[in-house]
Amino acid sequence: MLGLATGSTPIGTYEKLVKQNVEGKVDFAHVITINLDEYVGIEKNNEQSYRYFMNTHLFNHVNVSMQNTYVPNGKADDLSIECQRYDDKINKVGGIDLQLLGIGHNGHIGFNEPGEYFEGNTHVVSLGKTTLEANSRFFASIEEVPTQAITVGMQAIMQAKKVLLLVNGVDKEFILNKALYGPITPKVPASILQLHPDLTVICCLE
Ligand code: GLP
Repeated sequence: MLGLATGSTPIGTYEKLVKQNVEGKVDFAHVITINLDEYVGIEKNNEQSYRYFMNTHLFNHVNVSMQNTYVPNGKADDLSIECQRYDDKINKVGGIDLQLLGIGHNGHIGFNEPGEYFEGNTHVVSLGKTTLEANSRFFASIEEVPTQAITVGMQAIMQAKKVLLLVNGVDKEFILNKALYGPITPKVPASILQLHPDLTVICCLE
């Protein structure tokens, strides 16, 4: 069971996985994937949706079975039922073996935004100003960026057997330092990863 992330950072990883799958070095036939998050209010075939992102960058090009790929449904009639359904799915398949993560400029992982406490379960989140601004680069204007998302919570991430955090770009150096060496606080959500027993960080801070 593979926990997957979106954003620009893992695109190169997905390109490599596609290449290795085509070359027969990596097999997705029995892989189940669980994505971290999805915007609320966006259809899955909308080009801005994270489902579309995953199909385009990975799923359409490898031998994964589409029915084994899970992304939260941001158009669900009842979002709280969708969150519960998503956690049930994660638990039913026995949790995440390897969780791939990026990090936001404000320290978010998935869409777990800075707050007063770490939220354990999959939940609906209102996106902060920094996140809206950062993600507006994929939209025609900041007004078009959805203001809410569904995100897997800290429990499923922290219970993953292994976590791989990818960090790309000198603009992430400040937050990566805070996350890895600062106090563990929900104001820097990624700081919780200091408590994970098997965390690997791969960073290119150029
Ligand atoms: C989004 C995603 C995160 C991702 C972050 C960083 O907000 N929800 O999972 O880690 O962006 O994205 P990027 O890699 O483009 O900097």
